[in-house]
Amino acid sequence: MSIYTASTTAPVNIATLKYWGKRDKTLNLPTNSSISVTLAQEDLRTLTSVATSESFTEDQLWLNGQPESLQGERTQHCLQDLRNLRSRIEAQDSSLPRMSQWKLHIVSENNFPTAAGLASSAAGFAALVMAIAKLYQLPDSHSEISKIARKGSGSACRSLFGGYVAWEMGSEPDGSDSKAVEVAPQSHWPEMKAAILVVSADRKDTPSTSGMQHTVATSDLFQERIRNVVPKRFEEMKQAIQDRDFTRFAELTMRDSNSFHATCLDSFPPIFYMNDTSRKIVKLCHQINAFYDETIVAYTFDAGPNAVLYYLQENEAKLMAFVHHVFQKNSGWDTKFSQNDLEKFSEVFKTRVAPEVAFEFDEELYKGVSRVILTQVGPGPQDTTECLINKSTGYPN
Ligand code: ADP
Ligand code: DP6
Repeated sequence: MSIYTASTTAPVNIATLKYWGKRDKTLNLPTNSSISVTLAQEDLRTLTSVATSESFTEDQLWLNGQPESLQGERTQHCLQDLRNLRSRIEAQDSSLPRMSQWKLHIVSENNFPTAAGLASSAAGFAALVMAIAKLYQLPDSHSEISKIARKGSGSACRSLFGGYVAWEMGSEPDGSDSKAVEVAPQSHWPEMKAAILVVSADRKDTPSTSGMQHTVATSDLFQERIRNVVPKRFEEMKQAIQDRDFTRFAELTMRDSNSFHATCLDSFPPIFYMNDTSRKIVKLCHQINAFYDETIVAYTFDAGPNAVLYYLQENEAKLMAFVHHVFQKNSGWDTKFSQNDLEKFSEVFKTRVAPEVAFEFDEELYKGVSRVILTQVGPGPQDTTECLINKSTGYPN
């Protein structure tokens, strides 16, 4: 019996306007709209291959080489929705193989740590849904498919697009208008770069799903955030992206990260995602912007202590003069910079920064960081000829 396969890669996205709070837990409908930047897949990506055949006896998933349960309610929702869309096209064309009735084998690999606060669930569900949509040859748009990824993990819907992406919260109870849309493609503002300071690669304490439920249930500040703060910020941030206004974009990004973490702290009992290292990185960024009397860097933190710093290519040397100085002992610099580049950063620090800095550096700060990931804005899911499934057995290679 024939085995049909399809493969795709999908990116990580890091929100600049955070999704935090659900109005419907089963459908993953948010209490506010959000915005993110999609990151380049050479640095952070999920590769997912899927196969289906009349001969398969059960749905199976292998994640990073290990069998993983597919019984979770969220994954089941995604599979069901995709099968429904497939059966719709099968009903119109009797020559199509009845894939909607067959079991699936799914094999996936993340090229970065899973469940470590680096948005593996976003890339993972986006890749899973896209790969199956491709296998089923679904004609639906990316926004339409994003609604299915959303049911897997809310933030995953934004990984269906490259560049700058909004998740419109929608208002329909069935979630039919809660979808991702492109704010601007990567080519609109390709100079956006990101440096991720991996503060902890451990599994996180409070998963985002339960963390946000707890905030919705207990924080007073949260109500102010969703009613008055985010709706205005959503429009402002889209405009800042349209205008390529980094100063505005950066301030909104930093304020929104702070606002989200404030609602975590205002939950009862409080949730702490940022740690001492995270807070010192916040301070460092403000010191850098003050030093240059210009906003050249924005920090943002998800449901964990890792820092994501957004900056523009044109300010790289100015920013790295500081950041490389503080974190030079951490690994990751040589992935993007030559020895010559790194010496130039040190030179800028020595000749320009050091004689003028009016603040003390925490020379130990690098000890709280395990590595630096240097990346930039990137495209959405990509087709690939790489396949993790053996096309004659239907099992992982
Ligand atoms: P993260 O901060 O990395 O998003 P989460 O704990 O929120 O961590 O999500 C991790 C979970 O996401 C994993 O346990 C798994 O269920 C799912 N996941 C991660 N990567 C993939 C993938 N490539 N394919 C399918 N599911 C994935
Ligand atoms: C802080 O998308 O992981 O990263 O929908 O429950 O799977 P679930 O949550 P998830 O939450 C992401 C929270 C965030 C902010 C964001 O990405 O917008």
